[in-house]
This record gives sequence, structure tokens and C-alpha cells, in this order.
Amino acid sequence: MKEKGLYLKPNLVFEPLYDNWYAWSHLISPATAAMNVVGRHHTIIESYLAAPSIHAEAVLNPKMRGGPFMDFGGGRIAEVKALQQKSFQKQEKVIQFAKAIKELDKLLATEAKGFGLEALYEKVPPLLKGYVELYYDRNNNPGFRFFESLLYNSEFYNKSSQSFAMWLTNNDERPFCLSTPRLEDANVLSLDIPFDHPGIDELVKMKRVSQPLGYIKSMLGITPSQEVLFDTFFTDQPPTPYQKYTGDKIRMRYFGHACILVETKDISILVDPLISYYGYHSDVQHFSDVDLPDTLDYVLITHNHQDHILFETLLPLRHKIKNLIVPRTNSGRLEDPDLKLMFNNIGFNNVTAVNEMETIRFIDATITGLPFIGEHSDLNIVTKSCYLVKIGDFKLIFLADSRIIEPKLYEYIHDKIGDVDVIFIGMECDGAPLTWLYGPLLTKKLPRDMDGSRRLAGSDCNKGMSLVNIFNPKEIYVYAMGQEPWVEFISSIKYTDESNPIVQSNKLVQICRDRGMVAERLYGEKELLYEKQTSPKDLNYCTQD
Ligand SMILES: [Fe+2]
Repeated sequence: MKEKGLYLKPNLVFEPLYDNWYAWSHLISPATAAMNVVGRHHTIIESYLAAPSIHAEAVLNPKMRGGPFMDFGGGRIAEVKALQQKSFQKQEKVIQFAKAIKELDKLLATEAKGFGLEALYEKVPPLLKGYVELYYDRNNNPGFRFFESLLYNSEFYNKSSQSFAMWLTNNDERPFCLSTPRLEDANVLSLDIPFDHPGIDELVKMKRVSQPLGYIKSMLGITPSQEVLFDTFFTDQPPTPYQKYTGDKIRMRYFGHACILVETKDISILVDPLISYYGYHSDVQHFSDVDLPDTLDYVLITHNHQDHILFETLLPLRHKIKNLIVPRTNSGRLEDPDLKLMFNNIGFNNVTAVNEMETIRFIDATITGLPFIGEHSDLNIVTKSCYLVKIGDFKLIFLADSRIIEPKLYEYIHDKIGDVDVIFIGMECDGAPLTWLYGPLLTKKLPRDMDGSRRLAGSDCNKGMSLVNIFNPKEIYVYAMGQEPWVEFISSIKYTDESNPIVQSNKLVQICRDRGMVAERLYGEKELLYEKQTSPKDLNYCTQD
């Protein structure tokens, strides 16, 4: 008898892991991965094993939210020790690689004094020879860049460390994911396959198209002992069908945090995908996977931070993404990995890196990469892009977390693109200090006061208003605030009415409303419909190819 087709349940959490830690982009790029294995994972493990009760207390303290504390209530010591030993063995080469990076930094600091660098190549740690080029900046400060694409071909790209944890959820609550590794749990299926495994695409397609279980089990290599749990992930209940937008307008749907879907009857553009699960009660009304089209024409990534590149959402969408647009780099700098390469190496084949003021044209719409300033702790990171989406004459700009440090920049952009209809701006204006994200990449200790002065902070009210004054939008939406329940596990943000980002964004919304504009801080979900031809033809707008 023919085996019955089943669907994948929509509340199956799909957690990508690296060495059992929640996977994010810096754990894929080989050099940043090496530094994070040593400087983040091993450091947290050591600290936990030395003082588990301190971690248990810190996790309960709201002031320590998002800090480097393991959430095991002080327990599971033997398992954490075993994880440490496993990492020491499996990542032996990677650990040596991280050590070599530190040595190279030291070598350059002590021996590169402005004279020719050729002689120093002899002294480059053997593991790094052939993978780096040494240089000076214009002021004789030495540095090095990686030939990053070669690192992906080396023994330092540890694909076998990639795996998945899968389990069914009945709510949006999840603890902060970046400081606690995932240990064995009877309700969680561990799937030892890399992120580029084609079985992932086949599995998630079953959310909409039924398949016999035997088919997917053999693709994923499910073992007999995993079968009982694996079988619970499926249902014979067909999902609610996706309703394609067929109207003549532009439809904008806010999915939470920085994730926005722009659709017309012809095209779909999804910005910074972060999609919640569904199939259970949620106190906050929101769109989810069921509201996404069968194919996504363009997916736009604004910058390389954990809450804007979420593998947990992106890998299940991979099979339906026609074009993935990322900000360009090939600087080779440790702190600025190449996103195109990173995505190519986890199975995304249609990635385009876009430059500042570069335009992609299709049907009656264009996407233009715009400069993104700030929110990167004053590091020389160029892999960041704001976007102008222009459909017909209608213009929306997505500014993500950019902090409008220098309004003059946006005046020049305005000279090129003219007024816009809608602005989306992030206003997480306090931001974590540099070391929260980039600490493991530093090889010299950064004094606390310097660290505190270099934050991952978005715009405050004044900075946001300078944009309004330049672009004269009809509508402005504050977004990317990390507030939704299904975003907290990665954002670690919980505001009160007194929190500065809330105070600042309230102020901006009020000023804009007083001026007669539509203004709102988005939360949960929002749907807006726009006419394509609202603004008079802007003759200044021209694009660069
Ligand atoms: Fe950010």
C-alpha cells in the first residue's frame, strides 16, 4: 500500500547549532568562528565550571540579561565538562588557528614599525602562512587581511560542527540563546547534518506539500532510535493555504523586529527575515510563516548582527528565496567577514552583494543599497547597508539600526534619491558595548571606559528627527526594537516605560504626529497598503548601474 503523505507541523522549532551552541554568522566564517570558539564558548564554559552558582544567580538578574552566563541553574556540570572536552578534541586545529591570530597581532604590534613588511612574512605563524596579507594603513599602523575564500577550503572551516536541534513548541517563550549551549533533552531531536544539506529544504517544503515519512527519513538519515520523536513532528492536517496578494497596491506587512514583507501582485521583497512559529496561542497577534509567499523574489539583509541574520528563519526559507541581497565586502578583515561567501558556504547559491548607491532593477521596482553609518562600535566594518525600495513612484527606506551620526551623509543621499514616502528606523539607542559582540575578536584587552563609549547603538530622537527633516516622509515607523516575545531569545531585550529607547522613540513619534505625519513604533504586526503613484515624479532620482 502506498505510504500516506504528511505535513511538517508549523510549531517545530528548527535550531541551527555550531558545537552545540546557537549558530550565528560569526560561527560560520572560519576566522571569526575560531575566535568565538576560544574567546566566547570556551571562556563561558570555564567560567561556569569554576563558579556555576554565580551563573545561576546572574541569569535570574534582569540587569545581567544577555550576559555571558550559562542557564543551567548551576547544574549539569558533567555534561558541560564533556562538551568542553569534545570541543578541545574536535576543534584542535581551530583552537591553534585562533592562537596563531593572536600571535600575528603581537608580531605586528612589536615588529612592524613602518619599514617594509616583506621580511616579516618569514615570521608569520606557520598555520597562517599563505592565508594572510600584511599591510600598513596610511599612518603606518600595521594590520593583516585574510584570503577568506581560501579559509573556507581549509581545515579551519569546520562544517562537521554544524547540526540542528528540533522540537515542538507551544509558545513563543525561549531563554536567551547565545550564552548557553544545548545539551541532551529527551524532547529534542539532534540532527547531525551541515547547514547546506539538501534534506533541510525537503523537510521544510513539507510545511506546505505533504510527503511520505519514509522519504524524508531517508534523506535526513533518521535512525530507528530517533523515529518515535521524529514522527511527532508531522501531521495529516493540511496547513491554511497562503493567500497571494492580487490587488493593485503595495502591501507592507510587519512580521516583528526588523522583518518586513513588501508585496505587489508581481513581486515580493522580505527584509531581515525573522519569522515566528505558529500553531499555538500567542498573546501578541502576528504574521508568521503561513503568511509568506511560496517564492520570495528578493530577501534583503541589512547587516551582520545576530538579530538580522537568523539562520533559524533563513535556512527554512532557502528553497523559496530567488535572490538574496547582502551588503558587499571582501576586506578580509577579521571583524568584517564576507557575507556573500558565508551564505554561499551554507547552501545559498543566489547571493548578490550590493554596493552603496548601487541599484537592482526589476519589473517596475528597484532596490538601492544606501550607506549605513554607525552601530558597529566604530570598527572598520563595511558589511552594512540600508535599502531604498522603489515601486512605481513609491519610495520606502529601511534604515535598520543605523545611527544617524552625521546627517550630512543623508543630505547627500537625499540629493540623489529625493524625498521618500515611508521611513523605517531602528531606535535601540542605548546598545551593548563593543565587547558584547566583538570581544572574542580582540586580542588586546579594551579598557572598560573605552568599551562603554563604543556601543552598538541605533538612533535617538534627535538623530531620527534629522532624517525626517531631510527626507520629508509622510510616514515614519520605529522598528527593530527587539521587543516581540518571539524575538527576546535572540535580542535579550525587555524594556520598561522608562527605558531610554522607549522614551526616545515615544518622543519622536509624538513630534512627527504633531507635524501631521503618520508615526508609530511597530510591535507585533502591522499591515499597510499604498498606492504605487503617490508622489510626484522626482526628476532628481537617477540610479547607478
Ligand atoms: Fe544591529
